Amino acid sequence: MKQLIVYTKDYTETQELGRFLGAAAGDNMIFLMKGIIGAGKTTMTQGIARGMGVTRNVTSPTFTIQKIYHGTSMDLYHIDAYRLEGIEQDLGFEDDFDNGGLTVIEWSEFFPGQLPDDYLSVDIRPLEGDRREIVLTAHGKRYETMLEELL
Ligand SMILES: Nc1ncnc2c1ncn2[C@@H]1O[C@H](COP(=O)(O)OP(=O)(O)OP(=O)(O)O)[C@@H](O)[C@H]1O
Ligand SMILES: [Mg+2]
Repeated sequence: MKQLIVYTKDYTETQELGRFLGAAAGDNMIFLMKGIIGAGKTTMTQGIARGMGVTRNVTSPTFTIQKIYHGTSMDLYHIDAYRLEGIEQDLGFEDDFDNGGLTVIEWSEFFPGQLPDDYLSVDIRPLEGDRREIVLTAHGKRYETMLEELL
């Protein structure tokens, strides 16, 4: 299965979906979080972290670009590339994608470097009020298998 669409009615449901994704994630996986400012990318990442057994509270890494959290069996690399818009310089982040953990990137469209061919896209689209349409799209077999196992 390549795509899964989930509707949430508040932030707790988005975190719940994140928890399932975090629990299903394998080492060296990449999730690219899409959506406008305030869509819920960081909120979802908090759930992903919980699903990986991270006990620290995940906060927006906007001012540090990358934060690393220790999970039960692997680490979470949380990157927010928003402030990197317009930067041409290669920051060497792509070496980190084989970090043995899960890399979650917000604003990957501003990421100044090569993104991997295989990844899970998590597109959060605000509907009316607190409702969100969340479109999970698998790019690559590993992510397809992960989505199948989520159901
Ligand atoms: N269904 C929902 N799913 C996720 N967040 C929701 C939902 N309903 C309301 N919210 C609220 O929307 C806000 C989302 O903020 P969040 O920081 O997660 O967005 P973001 O996409 O990471 O934004 P940014 O681009 O600035 O990093 C939070 O205050 C959250 O509580
Ligand atoms: Mg954010």
